[in-house]
Amino acid sequence: MLVFITKDYAELSREAARIVARAIRRKRDLRLGLATGETQLGLYRELVRIHREEGLDFARVVTFNLDEYVGLDAGQPQSFRAFMFTNFFDHVNVPVGQIHIPNGALRKDFEKTCEEYERAIQDAGGIDLQVLGIGKDGHIGFNEPASSFASRTRLKTLTAQTIEDNRRNFPPDKETPRAAITMGIGTILEAQRILLLGSGAAKARAIALAIEGPLTASVTASALQLHRDSTLLVDREAAAELRHKDYYDSALEMTRKLTPERLW
Ligand code: F6R
Repeated sequence: MLVFITKDYAELSREAARIVARAIRRKRDLRLGLATGETQLGLYRELVRIHREEGLDFARVVTFNLDEYVGLDAGQPQSFRAFMFTNFFDHVNVPVGQIHIPNGALRKDFEKTCEEYERAIQDAGGIDLQVLGIGKDGHIGFNEPASSFASRTRLKTLTAQTIEDNRRNFPPDKETPRAAITMGIGTILEAQRILLLGSGAAKARAIALAIEGPLTASVTASALQLHRDSTLLVDREAAAELRHKDYYDSALEMTRKLTPERLW
């Protein structure tokens, strides 16, 4: 794991966008895994800027979102589909046919839809770069505690903490979804490269457990310890509880000098 501690959220967003943009420039038909949530907003803003000002071309990029709430119609503004179009897809040139987001409007046949999602990833040739956020409980995607490290795309019940965290995005009179379809840990670990973004003091505990804690299904981000090419971009606040911060800074310095391509 490459732990990259940035000064603040703005720098984290710029670095994340630089890595994604670089990956697209090196491979025009990049298969890109995407996440939603507040942490990702800076990355999307920056990618839109690079598209507009520097001509970053998404025409051949194929995207796969990690997850979607169950029980919301696609057009509902709180759906992850709506989030993705409002904050990103409406402003760049990914052709709509190359965008994949799990269908959460379903009321049944979840298994079939989840299998089809897995097949779509496989048919595209797998994911080259998967971007992740992290929940306060250490979840990636919506892989809540006790998610198997072997899990695939499936229906998942959300924890009370996640439901509470997401409530801010819903009108007070609307019920917050209690379930989601999410790629599994096994699905995520198959991506060639992983980029996790963690920002703010509220994530400090989860980040420390993910990087320095034991491998455990109770903190599903700890599964990234098993991945051979993961970069964890965290701002100073989110890095606050890491024990080996100085070492990560010097390892980053050395990477910059000796193998800068790892930072692309
Ligand atoms: C959503 C997802 C989640 C979020 C996580 C953090 O697609 O994958 O794992 O990344 O819940 O959300 P924020 O950034 O809103 O704190």
